[in-house]
Amino acid sequence: MKITSKQLRESWLKFYEGKGHVNVGAVSLIGDGTTGVMFNVAGMQPLMPYLLGKPHPLGRRLCNVQGCVRTVDIESVGDASHFTFFEMMGNWSLGDYFKKEKTAWTYELLTKVYGLDGSKLCSTVFEGNESAPRDEETATLLQSLGIAPEHIFYLPKSDNWWELEGTVGTPCGPDNEWFYPIDPDKKDPVFPDDYVEIGNDVYMQYRKTETGYVPLENKNVDTGFGLDRMLLFLNGLHDGYKTDLFAGAIARLEELTGKSYDVDEGARKAMRIVADHTRTTVMLIGDVNGILPSNTGAGYILRRLMRRAIRYCRQLGVEPAATMRAVAEVFIGEVYGEAYPLLIQKKDYILDEIGKEAERFETMLEKGMAEFEKCVAGIARKNAFMAQSDPAYVPETVIGGKQAFRLYDTYGFPLELTEEMAAERGLAVDKAGFDAAFREHQEKSRGDVHAGEAKGGLESHSQQAVRYHTATHLLNAALKAVLSPDVNQKGSNITDERMRFDFNFPRAMTPEEVKAVEDLVNQKIGEDIPVVYKEMSLDEARAEHFVGVFDSKYGDVVKTYSIGDFSKEMCGGPHVAHTGELGHFKIVKEQSSSAGVRRIKAVLE
Ligand code: ALA
Repeated sequence: MKITSKQLRESWLKFYEGKGHVNVGAVSLIGDGTTGVMFNVAGMQPLMPYLLGKPHPLGRRLCNVQGCVRTVDIESVGDASHFTFFEMMGNWSLGDYFKKEKTAWTYELLTKVYGLDGSKLCSTVFEGNESAPRDEETATLLQSLGIAPEHIFYLPKSDNWWELEGTVGTPCGPDNEWFYPIDPDKKDPVFPDDYVEIGNDVYMQYRKTETGYVPLENKNVDTGFGLDRMLLFLNGLHDGYKTDLFAGAIARLEELTGKSYDVDEGARKAMRIVADHTRTTVMLIGDVNGILPSNTGAGYILRRLMRRAIRYCRQLGVEPAATMRAVAEVFIGEVYGEAYPLLIQKKDYILDEIGKEAERFETMLEKGMAEFEKCVAGIARKNAFMAQSDPAYVPETVIGGKQAFRLYDTYGFPLELTEEMAAERGLAVDKAGFDAAFREHQEKSRGDVHAGEAKGGLESHSQQAVRYHTATHLLNAALKAVLSPDVNQKGSNITDERMRFDFNFPRAMTPEEVKAVEDLVNQKIGEDIPVVYKEMSLDEARAEHFVGVFDSKYGDVVKTYSIGDFSKEMCGGPHVAHTGELGHFKIVKEQSSSAGVRRIKAVLE
């Protein structure tokens, strides 16, 4: 290794700190809901308010290394260069320096610090359109640094304009992208085929509106260079899984499977998928705002990643839970623990959750695969039969929506997993049919839920039970506040005499924590906060951070209850009108319920 991931992170920060930048550190990988983007996809995302003009407390020159999760290309993972998690090395000027300094510093960093040959660099700039002019200024600056005019290319918006896709009100602008030959020794390389993009400097000077782009008061710079990518080519490698970020995980997989990454092509693809998806799983569960696999939103994406990895473990002939846990341990212990110490603190929790999801899916996977094979065989049989009797018959190539829904509902196969398995057999899946089956099922089960509720979802609808029900919302929020935002309700049971509340937490609560939770609930009761009921779409509820069991993947109407800013839950109710009606809240017992799940018994006095 010419340069390790640790050295690369450190050298990036040191270089920009030397140019007067302050390291702002990294934030959560989970999107904060302000843009509707589910994960943090770029280093600039948490800095948006400042790029739009708000003064940053640490000044106008900032830098960091920020984890990002991009899952649009999940299906491409398995090749040498696609990852669902990566680290973005960034630096920013908030209305401070602009193109002159930025081009000079990027050039200096690449050639002096990282030793790239300046005469081999290529650079692309924006060719201009009705929103923004052709970026001749940057091109001229690049030439003055020594980049040959024939190594500078003007490209359209699709290449040289950067914005957060699907958003409005966000900062954006033309960018200057930097390229280096994939094989630096190749004679007369041709752009772009023989080159790899190594990073970009975005000149963020516009705000995106519904109809176009308006200039920002500040001319900002937003730089992003992918650490994984840089590490690869600074070390002269051509396979992203050969860097020190992945070498340990791959070695562990070779050990466990007895297969060779270099020799066995099928195993190589599977190992890459298991390694990449396990890394992202570790990062998402181990995040400050960590999430768990579920059937909706970010949790659903995590579930897709985990189940895809589980399937590929099986393809490798190894036990998924043990394998993914072993790989996760390598990432936590050997690769990322130092840069992300929270992963070490959350290690047991992460490993437990990986084991649980693997076990949950494991029991269904085999039966689901058999079911899938039946569908495929059914189509093949039908095609063979029809072709015999009708020479003009066009063979069926689509798995029915109802069948895909059955795989989803009964066997826990994410639709995308079924689609991927189908594609491997040259088949597609009827997505619209799947959606229709999904909706039909939902309407049916909603009817069932309502019938069940009347019978005994709450054991009785007495006024006392309603009080206890509202108290569970306060308790849920207080546990999150006192213990960890990762705490989630795992169950509850209410009678007229007491409430029981189960939640995930890895250890017993201390007496101080129990008291702090109790006090916080009583404080909110004392504030006599109105309990507000509102119906909204599931998407709105998610955007407004309502918690709850998202048992639907689609944008239906959900019932929500909020108690000030303190508690926001999706819930069928009923609830009291004001928290003051609850009386005094007292925790009588805190005990273990099952592995990783604690149980609180509490009364209202
Ligand atoms: N925001 C730019 C990117 O993510 C730097 O590539």
